[in-house]
Amino acid sequence: MDVHHWDDMYRSRDQVFSGNPNPVLVAEVGCLPPGQALDVGCGEGADALWLARCGWQVTAVDVSEVALRRAAGAAEADVRDRLAWARADLTVAPPPARAFDLVSVHYFPIRREPGHAALYGLLNAVAPGGAFLFVTHPLPDPASAPRSAEYYQPGDIAQLLGPAWHVLVEETRPRAGPRHTHDAVLRASRLR
Ligand SMILES: C[S@@+](CC[C@H](N)C(=O)[O-])C[C@H]1O[C@@H](n2cnc3c(N)ncnc32)[C@H](O)[C@@H]1O
Repeated sequence: MDVHHWDDMYRSRDQVFSGNPNPVLVAEVGCLPPGQALDVGCGEGADALWLARCGWQVTAVDVSEVALRRAAGAAEADVRDRLAWARADLTVAPPPARAFDLVSVHYFPIRREPGHAALYGLLNAVAPGGAFLFVTHPLPDPASAPRSAEYYQPGDIAQLLGPAWHVLVEETRPRAGPRHTHDAVLRASRLR
């Protein structure tokens, strides 16, 4: 799944996703005071826009220029100054360390690898006191891509978190949707 895959997916339709923020984001972040947020693999931008409307200062990153153009076009004038759109491959170019009060990762493919460099890059982006929210399709899920076992699940990540972290949520919960019936969720806060 390289940049061409994602660009082609977005070009294939005028709108790929619903335009609504992900329900886990709304449920888990609704209670947090706004600060600096990183939306990892922001796609068409619904999560980033919701965060900005809630007062967060959002850096929204995606590898697909097509998705980013679409996302930026959807931003209302009154939240534009709270949104920074950036094109990057976050598996090779990690975000700035300890810079974000929230790192939100929804359905972003992070392939398991020895050393966990890409995953640690995202975890390191969380500032002390900040939150890491990771949501993916659980296994087994018949609608998931057949190679989904190659990607991290919340339990894998929870096991890699050291004593500087506190796991608040690690569960699979139902979700409404035509293809996927459940979300696998990890929410952890960085203590120091
Ligand atoms: C399944 S979509 C999810 C989009 C959005 N988070 C959502 O929940 O609607 C995954 C997104 O991650 C982006 N992406 C995939 N690999 C990436 C990478 N290595 N670096 C940055 N973005 C990437 C894709 O372009 C795509 O927009």
